[in-house]
Amino acid sequence: MKFSKNILCIGAGYVGGPTMAIIALKCPEYKVTVVDVNEERIARWNSDDLPIYEPGLLQAVREARGRNLFFSTAIAEGIRAADIIFVSVNTPTKTFGLGAGMASDLQYWEKTAHQIVSHSDRPKIIVEKSTLPVRTAEAMERILKENKKNIRFDVVSNPEFLAEGSAVNDLLSPDRVLIGSQQTESGAQAAQVIADIYAHWVPADKIITTNLWSAELSKLVANAFLAQRISSINAISALCEKTDADVSEISFAVGSDTRIGSRFISASIGFGGSCFKKDILNLVYICRSYGLNEVADYWEKVVQMNEYQQERFVKKIIKEMFNTIVAKKIVLLGFAFKANTGDTRESPGIPVAKKLLAERASLVICDPQALENARRELAGVDGDVRYEADPYRAVIDAHAIAVITEWDVFKELDFEKVFSVMQKPAFVFDGRNILDHQRLFQIGFNVFPLGKPSLTHF
Ligand code: UDX
Ligand code: UDX
Repeated sequence: MKFSKNILCIGAGYVGGPTMAIIALKCPEYKVTVVDVNEERIARWNSDDLPIYEPGLLQAVREARGRNLFFSTAIAEGIRAADIIFVSVNTPTKTFGLGAGMASDLQYWEKTAHQIVSHSDRPKIIVEKSTLPVRTAEAMERILKENKKNIRFDVVSNPEFLAEGSAVNDLLSPDRVLIGSQQTESGAQAAQVIADIYAHWVPADKIITTNLWSAELSKLVANAFLAQRISSINAISALCEKTDADVSEISFAVGSDTRIGSRFISASIGFGGSCFKKDILNLVYICRSYGLNEVADYWEKVVQMNEYQQERFVKKIIKEMFNTIVAKKIVLLGFAFKANTGDTRESPGIPVAKKLLAERASLVICDPQALENARRELAGVDGDVRYEADPYRAVIDAHAIAVITEWDVFKELDFEKVFSVMQKPAFVFDGRNILDHQRLFQIGFNVFPLGKPSLTHF
């Protein structure tokens, strides 16, 4: 079959894979190829054991794969054939040198730009899909323009707003699609080509075009605002625990104000995921580099509040368990950074587990999707830790349960059965406020919710 356009995506990760699957599904006349340096990842994209867990994804991939969706490691070949290249390689926080711990590590990004130049022989549109510092496109354009072959490359920013666990739905019905381009004739044309892809299934009024820098910065700002809401309510949860107010009631009362809105104000042990912390620190670094120290301090507090919340959770466990947890068996219910994903990047479960292990607790980690990643995250950490997929086995002889991830399966557990096999006194620390606390208390548990009065039998 002859395809009307060749789309390539470099980077078959949490963003590139699902995004391209949906584009392929909705645009059968385009050929969509996803390439990655990681052979194992590509092999899994070509099997029914996809490298990431995402509801609805396997079905979408199965429908399009082999028809107009292809996964491959042939990067050079893919670049040569492409009309449009989405770049979706990872841009982690730098761990070394200038800006370590804050700035984005753009080495993969730059390497990809050089690869594009060396394997291209005709004009192409390059789409920034990865979240990047504002004005990265400028550097990208500079690398691309210095090609001796005189090829024209138009760089467009099309940041991704999908959230893990709901990626397929977010892609199918996005709140908006943002496309930023240079305000030139060829920039506008390139933006239109990208808009035409999404127009296959997204209503025109939801496709927003802006200048390149606004698009890049909007992504960082959206994530910073979302994270700020969580840090705000988490700060209030600490105050609730001192005043006998109930943070869930506050979320409801405050969220009922339509100016504020009800989403993203649930107290938790803190936000995780690959984006929030990385993007805020990046924003902070950019502000500092422009000498905007007050602005940088303001946003940095959002991250500090998140760390405080995780520490507070661990301190509470230690204090309530009579100031020692040495050799006590504590079950972490959940390790993914949120429900419906196996992703553990920046999961609050990681610092919580490390701190509990440093106190010499005996840990059992239980998660329906994230055990493989949990093992990797805690590899090399000293201490007694076991991984158990079955919650009923995990809780045998446990002194305490700590809820880390808001998986539905944990809400539905038979807690009478759980209580009967645990050590007494049995403790529950609900880091997500998902359990029925009153009922647990009646069964006999000592219950410590987040931002609400505790229920104890002492
Ligand atoms: C990444 C970025 O981290 C995020 O900031 C951005 O918004 C979207 O892209 P994600 O898809 O979650 O997010 O990253 P990851 O799952 O790590 O996928 C990146 C893929 O790129 C990996 O499979 C990696 O092997 C691949 N890659 C990386 C290349 O193919 N070439 C490289 O040079 C570097
Ligand atoms: C986020 C953005 O939502 C998405 O638009 C962007 O493209 C990438 O970053 P993601 O990291 O997948 O997506 O997860 P998200 O659903 O935003 O949750 C982030 C963290 O906040 C999770 O750890 C979650 O448990 C936590 N959270 C969320 C809370 O603690 N309370 C809330 O009320 C909502």
